[in-house]
Amino acid sequence: MITVENISKNFGGIQAVNDVSLTIETGSITGLIGPNGAGKTTLFNVIAGHFAPSAGKVLLDGEDITGLPPHELFGKGLLRTFQIAHEFSTLTVRENLMTVPGGQSGERLTDAWFRPGRVRAEEVRLRECADDVIDFLQLDQVADELAGNLSGGQKKLLELGRTMMVDAKIVFLDEVGAGVNRTLLGTIGDAIMRLNRERGYTFCMIEHDMEFISRLCDPVIVMAEGAVLATGSADAVRADEAVIEAYLGTGLKNKVAGKTVGAGS
Ligand SMILES: Nc1ncnc2c1ncn2[C@@H]1O[C@H](COP(=O)(O)OP(=O)(O)OP(=O)(O)O)[C@@H](O)[C@H]1O
Ligand SMILES: [Mg+2]
Repeated sequence: MITVENISKNFGGIQAVNDVSLTIETGSITGLIGPNGAGKTTLFNVIAGHFAPSAGKVLLDGEDITGLPPHELFGKGLLRTFQIAHEFSTLTVRENLMTVPGGQSGERLTDAWFRPGRVRAEEVRLRECADDVIDFLQLDQVADELAGNLSGGQKKLLELGRTMMVDAKIVFLDEVGAGVNRTLLGTIGDAIMRLNRERGYTFCMIEHDMEFISRLCDPVIVMAEGAVLATGSADAVRADEAVIEAYLGTGLKNKVAGKTVGAGS
């Protein structure tokens, strides 16, 4: 679905992403791991249109989407969540969901004046869609709570929920599991798997929790120092010498073979 061809991105003297090529297969849940500062978020930012790359190309189903702005990619079904959740804290959970899709007819003043019926019908449809998402993600208890009052984990779940308000094809998740308690992490993992199986979402997810990655992702792509180091099953990359070396090189001993790799968790 996604082909990344020789993408580089520098910030001044820092080569954050250095000649990365990879593919994300349709229907996969692809993991992206690597030590802090490896360039994972920067690569997401390039793919999702937040930064233009210094070099290289990104293709979506064969179409060149390099440098297209996020709202155009959104229209093509390419969505992303952020490492730091982006909720509207003064809106409720349901309202946060209902504000996602662009181009609602209620936003056009002329429609609100001359075609109030259409606006109302749209609002009913949006509300039904939001309630469906709330149900799917088991957010019923907090549906009318202000998003600013949610726990960190619930905010992550809401971020995932926002991607369900449109017909997403591929969703990029940046540390959706970080700082989330075990129970909620299970809920998030289940939701990702169901979206993948039942609704045909393709996912690419950055994560530091190896247990979570192993449960969900195949393949797993490992980045270090701006480059792709290894690609394979979770077990295969965990046993890869170069990968172990990259993690040890960051001073994080003992973590690779255990549950967690990387310092972000
Ligand atoms: N906007 C920016 N301006 C300057 N440098 C940046 C910017 N964004 C990232 N960098 C640098 O690029 C490198 C890669 O950072 P990036 O955030 O992509 O890493 P990451 O793999 O997502 O790390 P983490 O696991 O900690 O989230 C780092 O050296 C970082 O300091
Ligand atoms: Mg990051």
